Amino acid sequence: MTQDEINNLNEQTDIVSLVSKYVKLEKQGKNYKGLCPFHNEKTGSFIVSPDKNIFTCFGCHKSGNPLKFIELIENVEFPDALKMLCDFNGVKYEGRKTQENPNSKYYKIMDTAKSFYNKFLLNDKSADKALEYLKSRGITDDIINDFEIGLSPNSYDVLYQVLNDMNYNELDSSDIGLISSNEKGKYHDFFVNRIMFPVKDDRGNVVAFSARKFYNDDPAQPKYINTKETRIYRKNQILFNLNLAKQEINKKHRVILHEGQMDVIASYKSGLKEAVCSLGSAFGDDQAKLLAKYTKSVIIAYDGDDPGVKSAIKAIEVFKRNGFDVHLVLYPDNMDPDEFVLKYGKEKYVEFFENNIIDEVEYLFRVTILNKNLDDKNVLNKVKSDVFNLISSLNSPILEEKYLKRFSDYLKASYEAVYEDYQKQSKNNGNQKVIVKEVDPTKDLNKECELRLIYYATKSKKLALEINEKINNDLDVFSESSLHLWFSLLYNYYEEYDEFDEKLFLNLIPENDFNQYKHLNLVLGKSLNKTFDEEDLNKCIEKIKDMKISLRNKVLRDRILASSDDTERSRNIDEMFKNKRNREKRAHN
Ligand code: UTP
Ligand code: MN
Repeated sequence: MTQDEINNLNEQTDIVSLVSKYVKLEKQGKNYKGLCPFHNEKTGSFIVSPDKNIFTCFGCHKSGNPLKFIELIENVEFPDALKMLCDFNGVKYEGRKTQENPNSKYYKIMDTAKSFYNKFLLNDKSADKALEYLKSRGITDDIINDFEIGLSPNSYDVLYQVLNDMNYNELDSSDIGLISSNEKGKYHDFFVNRIMFPVKDDRGNVVAFSARKFYNDDPAQPKYINTKETRIYRKNQILFNLNLAKQEINKKHRVILHEGQMDVIASYKSGLKEAVCSLGSAFGDDQAKLLAKYTKSVIIAYDGDDPGVKSAIKAIEVFKRNGFDVHLVLYPDNMDPDEFVLKYGKEKYVEFFENNIIDEVEYLFRVTILNKNLDDKNVLNKVKSDVFNLISSLNSPILEEKYLKRFSDYLKASYEAVYEDYQKQSKNNGNQKVIVKEVDPTKDLNKECELRLIYYATKSKKLALEINEKINNDLDVFSESSLHLWFSLLYNYYEEYDEFDEKLFLNLIPENDFNQYKHLNLVLGKSLNKTFDEEDLNKCIEKIKDMKISLRNKVLRDRILASSDDTERSRNIDEMFKNKRNREKRAHN
């Protein structure tokens, strides 16, 4: 398509009805208003202007024409967005003559099978038992529709006949695992008498099925039978429900990873639609990379039982390796999310979920002491040694103190006694490291200093201003998210209010900074509940100044090496040495 044609296509698009497919809009004067689909908000800052044929969000500043809207909301590249816009306008898409996707013939067959199974579940008399089973598991008609759940008939070649009648190639259908042939070359259906969950790629193409048995008369039959790997299904590159979840992931800036599809469905049903899971295999790097296109913040919500915990620990490593910010939820009584929702209901589930998001250290700490009989001396010693290893691997004195305190409370022992044991073990081990590998321990400590300073600044306006006075010139060592919080607190919040009030403050900061604030609470809130510790405050300020100087010296060093101008060089060298001397002097005091 030429640029002119694309412009025309944009112009002829009714942007209000396009956007309305995704966002509930209300008329307001000449324009329409709604909740922005690109960030989380409670008041509508998202405006659609039919006159200008554009959308604009005053919260997250995303704006553009209809084509841009599709690119953003569907998270697709330009050519795909263009195709969708053509579809929307009923215009034939004349893309650059790219060849047709070689897999589209398979997707078509899969789609036919999906629709067939779905209709069979909804319309066939013999489906009563399956429907009853789904109902008993809390799966409503809406869920059946959204996930296009189906039923494979209790016969051996009904699907085969259906595909045959539509003239699909037998080999193709067999290549994608829908039918298989016996020694005599006679075909039969692969899935028989099971509830069929279509498995889709992130664009919504059906690439596989996961099929659950729904009655118990043959215990030898596995609970789930999944499509084997085929040319359109690589199980470690697919995440169940990503096609539906991606919009919500974009909006909430987080993804929830569950262990099974029933858990994803339970989560979805409760309103946590940003949930996905891998199927019949462990979560791996390819899947992490796939998710990284949408967010780098994950909450792992696996079963609370032993295998669940083991897989969660593996998943933590995969995510860390891929640069994710990792949190977890640990369910009580070995439950999985699906059982939790069925037992306590949706509201209780969401409430539990949101209030029990913990970081990975807390998680590892909890599962180490989970269900252990500490009256048994041997068990106790093993637990102690595991917990101590975990704590010493953190490389953070602050976290060390926090978790040793927590652990001593748990053991109902004194902090001093536990600390002594800990020291003993560290010495014996020569400080060996296990489980959590921090990439750069100093970086983490630095982050904690900035968080502490923010924390102290919430204690009073006066204190905040004092701290700001001292570190005003060093703020560039703060991480971006901390910097946001700092500016919001100093220059927005305290401009208006004199007392810190968490609710008011949270109202004022962009939703993107929520996570950092939560993190602040999570890391510091519990351990730092003392009101104010001047010594610690000064230490943090010093640390920030130190970091600033090393940052500055790094810049100077690069300049010195690169410069050919002698006067400039000696000026830089002078400054570098002055910085070093000052730093040493401060360290002495
Ligand atoms: P679980 O055994 O925890 O099952 O397996 P579940 O998700 O709670 O399933 P329900 O609630 O009993 O229906 C977790 C995941 O492992 C895969 C499935 O993807 C399942 O969701 N699995 C399990 C299989 O692929 N095959 C099996 O036989 C069992
Ligand atoms: Mn389950």
